Amino acid sequence: MSNQTNRRDFLGYSFAAVAAVGGAASLVGMKQAWDPLPSVLAGGFTNVELGSLKAGNPVTVSWRGKPIFLLKKTAEMEEAPRDLIIGSDRFTVAIGLCTHLGCIPAWKKDMWKCACHGGEFNASGTQTFGPPPRPLDLPPFSVKGTSIVLGEEGPEYKKIAAAMMA
Ligand code: FES
Repeated sequence: MSNQTNRRDFLGYSFAAVAAVGGAASLVGMKQAWDPLPSVLAGGFTNVELGSLKAGNPVTVSWRGKPIFLLKKTAEMEEAPRDLIIGSDRFTVAIGLCTHLGCIPAWKKDMWKCACHGGEFNASGTQTFGPPPRPLDLPPFSVKGTSIVLGEEGPEYKKIAAAMMA
């Protein structure tokens, strides 16, 4: 009798232990399924430090699958209403897709040139030649110190977007 009880207890405890481990594993699995993928989290907001950019040498970062051009302007480059001013520096922030048919223009000396149909954009992102119908588009961003956060609509973005519409 005592032997049977012990055996029954052992089976009960074993079943409970297996069920507990299975339940915990299921919860972990469900949490992983519900949480946004790391790529989605990274795709929402992109933080870029502008302070280290070299004037006249644009960089391209990726935001939500799009190339974003970031240029610290040299003193010789024209001032434009869409300049992002941080301290004494002026920057061009633009979505790096040609506004004609969406090719990615390449930086050549002091302008972005689109190899597809010869479109050109100056250092402010304004179309200066060829078929592009409008300047390079402006991505939403906010400014945090000397960094920008792509994906947030801060006051600087709103001001520049309004200036581009005028
Ligand atoms: S896609 Fe750039 S000029 Fe046509």
